[in-house]
Amino acid sequence: MHIRQIREGIDVICNVDWGRRLFDSLIPLPDGTSYNAYIVYGSEGVALIDSGDPCFREQFLKDIEPVKHVDFIVSQHAEQDHSGLLPEMVERYPKAPVLCSDKARDMLITHLGIPAERIRVVADGEEVSLGDKTMKFVYTPWVHWPETMCTYVPELKTLFSCDFFGSHLATSDLFVTDAAQVYEAAKRYFSEIMMPFSKTIVRNLAKVAALDFDLIAPGHGPAFDNPAMIVDAYHEWTGPKMKNEVVLPYISMHGSTKLMVDYLIDALAMRGVKVLPFDLAVTDIGKLAMSLVDTATIIIGTPTVHVGVHPLVHYAAYLANLLKPKVKYAAVIGSYGWGSKAVDQIVATIPNLKVDVLGAVTCKGVPTAEVYSELDSLADAVAAAHKADENVV
Ligand code: FEO
Repeated sequence: MHIRQIREGIDVICNVDWGRRLFDSLIPLPDGTSYNAYIVYGSEGVALIDSGDPCFREQFLKDIEPVKHVDFIVSQHAEQDHSGLLPEMVERYPKAPVLCSDKARDMLITHLGIPAERIRVVADGEEVSLGDKTMKFVYTPWVHWPETMCTYVPELKTLFSCDFFGSHLATSDLFVTDAAQVYEAAKRYFSEIMMPFSKTIVRNLAKVAALDFDLIAPGHGPAFDNPAMIVDAYHEWTGPKMKNEVVLPYISMHGSTKLMVDYLIDALAMRGVKVLPFDLAVTDIGKLAMSLVDTATIIIGTPTVHVGVHPLVHYAAYLANLLKPKVKYAAVIGSYGWGSKAVDQIVATIPNLKVDVLGAVTCKGVPTAEVYSELDSLADAVAAAHKADENVV
């Protein structure tokens, strides 16, 4: 889209990717995404903060055409969706140094071929003057890569946050206009991109919260002119509180596991525990990731395939393990024809989840009254664990 003013002294180029449906060949994008680049105008200098994804090369070069002069190019994050057009910007603005964090230097050289002599490392907390405006660089490692940093301009009370506080949401809006929609998109984004680094994010949240800003300008999605909305959400997602919920991803091949799942949903509901079931044959894996942000318990349901866990269940368990949600309790249920190692395989797949395993209920063939009784006992154990845990609300 054409360059637009977002605040006096700041322009934005939003590369809105309306049709993109997958990121990293992994993450579903039901609402598309955007890649935002910002231009900050000071009395004695102009800075370009980030660029965009290479798929927008031609459009971006058209959009930035009015910006004839840039004194500094800031690379907050070396990943291609923010720095993929950096080589073109280095050519377009031959006198502008590329400012980046210490860890970004090597990445910009090896990932993007930026000449070493064009790179100037800025320290955490370092300030670079644009005359009447100042860029203060704030290292925010692991939000999303180790080299990531934010840029704070105090005179504009603006925090340029790159992936931090971002959302995969294609929109023509410059600012958040539908808070519920953006909350949903930002939570999905957090679950897929940020959740594995929650502990580091807590430290980075404290670091940026000490700054005085009333605008967050992220690298993806609309800007927040009410920053408390997204900062509070991040506190909630990274904090210790969990919901009195069970996330139940499952597969059923011939119906036995489904009978167990349906029975357990009812048994948990009768005990006041909400259940979010996900049939992995048809589910949006991003919705499953979102649900893991604040659930207290995960129960995995699987039939047995060649004595082992169903491949789609293995994929979901592996993904949950990578995403490292704060989930505290787990269990496995499922069925088999003649023998199964599925429970052991699932437990071995989720070492990153620091969970108490509340039990495993398996059945040979169709569930019997005894199996249903075991499911009742499992529901009792879940309800009791939630009730006794001060962080489950
Ligand atoms: Fe939006 Fe880590 O890239």
